[in-house]
Amino acid sequence: MRIDLLNEMVEEFSKTYVKPLARSVDEEERFPAETVELLGKYGLLGLPFPKEYGGVGADTKAYIDTVRTISKDCATTSVIISAHTSLCSSPIFMFGSEAQKAKYLTKLNKGEYLGAFGLTEPGAGTDASQQQTKAVDFGDYYELTGSKIFITNAGYADVYIIFAMTQPELGLKGISAFIVEKDIKGFTVGPKEKKMGIRGSSTCELIFQKARVPKENLLGKEGQGFKIAMQTLDGGRIGIAAQALGIAEGAFERAVSYVKTRTQFNRPISKFQNTQFVIADLKTQIEAARGLLYQAVADKDENRNYTVSAAMAKLYCSKVAVEVSDKAIQLMGGYGYIRDYEVERYLRDAKITEIYEGTSEVQRMVIAGKVLA
Ligand code: CAA
Repeated sequence: MRIDLLNEMVEEFSKTYVKPLARSVDEEERFPAETVELLGKYGLLGLPFPKEYGGVGADTKAYIDTVRTISKDCATTSVIISAHTSLCSSPIFMFGSEAQKAKYLTKLNKGEYLGAFGLTEPGAGTDASQQQTKAVDFGDYYELTGSKIFITNAGYADVYIIFAMTQPELGLKGISAFIVEKDIKGFTVGPKEKKMGIRGSSTCELIFQKARVPKENLLGKEGQGFKIAMQTLDGGRIGIAAQALGIAEGAFERAVSYVKTRTQFNRPISKFQNTQFVIADLKTQIEAARGLLYQAVADKDENRNYTVSAAMAKLYCSKVAVEVSDKAIQLMGGYGYIRDYEVERYLRDAKITEIYEGTSEVQRMVIAGKVLA
């Protein structure tokens, strides 16, 4: 793949394969399996990882540009890419042994495997340290018992990064991370949740009943799980910020083209100052969000700590996604509210970006924690 031509290729890919399906994927709540297969074939499931592990060898920026471009057309498709890349391949790349990278990362990067991440539990959402899933050491294997909820790509993923307590008495220092294959005995996936937005993406419960995970599938060291989760989420939050910015841009482009052609009182509504002022404000918000997103990307690519810049990017980009898609509907009036014009989908899809991979309140905790330290 020519990395210098990646953005053009992704735009073409999205226009050809993603955009035409976006509406039906939403209406039918259908996981776009055929698109995921193509994403793998085009190398778009292994962008920021070295070629020696089957990746493309691009940087975070190239990956983030891709998530953003695809989000302009379909946020269901972009969250599949983001959960796979940021939440599954990335922790294996950062913390995995060479054997784990050879076994899993190569297949994930080539799209032969799809990845997912299981941290959230019924009683451990924002307070991720309260893990109840237990992993008991039986020598050659760990036995996992417990459940995870709201897991993106569940049921379609081949590999899951799962967090569980190996030493509950140590609190968050007793949490460990595991690479779990889909077919192990004692592991089942619950029914698909019915959601407000990103309705084609699969979100399910994962149930572990004495599921045996081989010892060699411990990711990192015992007790390192919480840090692995937090570092993974730092990267994931940049992915969701990119998704949010893409949603905002997609809704904005639709609104701009609408106001230029919609005529009322004998002139296009773009000639009214109210329209112009709203468009100016939305454009300014989008560019401010872009600045924060690409600052976080640069921090990651240039090996600076990006915990806070990722949190700020996600906090602001998700707010902008909700506001821009809401205002886009308002500019389009009744047409904006009906499904044929699609901007209502952008608002429904935007809302989750304020919730998953850490709510906006969590991002504020992370930012304020640093500022006030
Ligand atoms: N990188 C590395 N280490 C980190 C870290 C980071 N970003 N953040 C915290 N840590 C470390 C701390 O240094 C500390 O370690 P030491 O004790 O050795 O110093 C340890 O972790 C505990 O830190 P805190 O005291 O700050 O942790 P906390 O319990 O107060 O939690 C929190 C902080 C920010 C609220 C955290 O729990 C959190 O991010 N919660 C939200 C979880 C989340 O985002 N869930 C989404 C799941 S994924 C998803 O949405 C589903 C999907 O499939 C898309």
